[in-house]
Amino acid sequence: MGSNLVGGRVATPTTPLRCAVFISGSGSGMEALVNAQRSRRLPHETVLVVSNKANVPGLERASRLGLPSLVVEHRRNGENISREEHELEILKGLADHDVELIVLAGYMRLLSPVFLNEWHHRVVNIHPSLLPHFPGGHAHRDVLSSKTSITGCTVHLVDEGMDTGAVLAQRAVPVFESDDEISLSDRVKVEEHRLYPDVLTWIAEGRVHLTEEGVHVQDETDRFVC
Ligand code: GRF
Repeated sequence: MGSNLVGGRVATPTTPLRCAVFISGSGSGMEALVNAQRSRRLPHETVLVVSNKANVPGLERASRLGLPSLVVEHRRNGENISREEHELEILKGLADHDVELIVLAGYMRLLSPVFLNEWHHRVVNIHPSLLPHFPGGHAHRDVLSSKTSITGCTVHLVDEGMDTGAVLAQRAVPVFESDDEISLSDRVKVEEHRLYPDVLTWIAEGRVHLTEEGVHVQDETDRFVC
């Protein structure tokens, strides 16, 4: 059996895995995750919200939830700061909050190979399509133009590519002829908000293993289920 994603640690509701949720906008996925963590006593908790944009609604949600947030903008005084400088500030925030897992939830910026090397297999993302179909920033638009009748969402490990890392779980969602991007996004988000807390639970409990053949999730009876 390959190593699990959290280096052998088995988190519990009393010793939860410490997550930082990265956002760039509305933050509805972050809020749904935090509500699930608080209402269901899950073995993971959100200890920090990181945004690369100031004044986004997700930061207001974080503040209403009583969560610390860290804003690291990549433009300062009209100029871009270097990727290295940007990520160093984030890394410091993660260390200050003893973060163990990075959870991307609508974070619209690629992380550098140096950053991902330091956080190898400890960064996950949720994408609003059934990857490898429709990667990128306009998944719903691309789904609608393709005329497919099924889409969904995918939780995956983050690697250096755009939505290319190993898939941990997917859920399907129907596409209706009457859909526009908003109605489709709303329907997919319902499923995203259910799926993300569950996948983080598998990770926190040390049940997600990486082997040469790929990703395996172990169920309660010790069988490999996917
Ligand atoms: C979600 O659909 C997520 O899958 C994608 O970005 C969207 C973020 O929405 N990566 P929100 O900011 O959580 O409302």
